[in-house]
Amino acid sequence: MSAPSVWLITGASRGLGFETAKAALKAGHIVVAGRRGSKSTTQVTELESAGAKWIELDMMLSDIESIITKVEKEYGHIDVLVNNAGYGVGGTVEDLRTSIQTIREVMEVNVMGPIRACRAVIPIMRQQGGGAIVNISSVSGIISYPGISAYSCTKHALEGFTESLSKEIEPFKIRTLLVEPGSMPTGFLDTALSAVNVPRSEPYLGTIADMVLSAAAGGELVKAHGGSPVLAAARIVEAVDRTGVFADRDIGLRLPLGKETQEIIDWGKDLAKHAEELQEIAVSIAV
Ligand SMILES: NC(=O)c1ccc[n+]([C@@H]2O[C@H](COP(=O)([O-])OP(=O)(O)OC[C@H]3O[C@@H](n4cnc5c(N)ncnc54)[C@H](OP(=O)(O)O)[C@@H]3O)[C@@H](O)[C@H]2O)c1
Repeated sequence: MSAPSVWLITGASRGLGFETAKAALKAGHIVVAGRRGSKSTTQVTELESAGAKWIELDMMLSDIESIITKVEKEYGHIDVLVNNAGYGVGGTVEDLRTSIQTIREVMEVNVMGPIRACRAVIPIMRQQGGGAIVNISSVSGIISYPGISAYSCTKHALEGFTESLSKEIEPFKIRTLLVEPGSMPTGFLDTALSAVNVPRSEPYLGTIADMVLSAAAGGELVKAHGGSPVLAAARIVEAVDRTGVFADRDIGLRLPLGKETQEIIDWGKDLAKHAEELQEIAVSIAV
């Protein structure tokens, strides 16, 4: 990809999005950083001073399509879209917190928003002869932990969408990257904490869902597994640019990041073993 590229990054006001914006700027790219509202924060000022241009982009409320068209008009091209904005929802399926409205809202931000952004950017990238789409998924896009079914549902949806999409747009030289981070000490857990702090209803106390949510709320998951958002951002930029650790390797679609990758490896083995064990029964319905 010829530098400097134009990177559009959603949810860049803090956390992984902010670090990715900084890493992309450091690599010499032009960064258009999306945030909700126009509030000025330390991060907003820092990115602005480093050369980023802020745009208001709420993945639930904005007219994502016209905002992307405006960015393309202003810069002449959009080379990389990073669908990073997202948040977690904790609580058992039965509990109030995961009411249908709560689930709809997180689906809107974590799934529909990225889908709309991809649909808007693909014709631009196709016409300019290529580009890259980076969708920030999660280890929860592969493994479903009890207590976070709503969040898991969004990331599984994003995984399925992206895997299919990647094959559709490959002929147009549009690369797709599905990033699967494990726990990182960003604002993510603070946001999710407001959800996991909602008391579990009585029947769930002491169950596995209760234990997972308590561990998340107490910060134990991050302490046990926590990866660095700064290093994760560096890996993402290197993967897109094919520099650094990715200078000589083609990484394909998925980029797992963090210690939970071991859980993904084990999950894959269990899945294969299960399918093998049941293969005889599975094919028994063949006609
Ligand atoms: N941290 C982890 O442990 C972890 C692990 C796996 C995957 N991830 C994924 O990494 C991505 C970034 O999360 P993070 O860890 O950096 O969390 P974070 O520090 O909470 O940052 C989340 C970002 O998303 C933005 N956002 C939330 N709702 C939005 C909306 N409706 N429209 C636009 N922006 C919105 C936030 O903006 P405001 O500042 O306006 O709220 C913020 O910039 C998410 O997709 C998350 O699912 C995180």
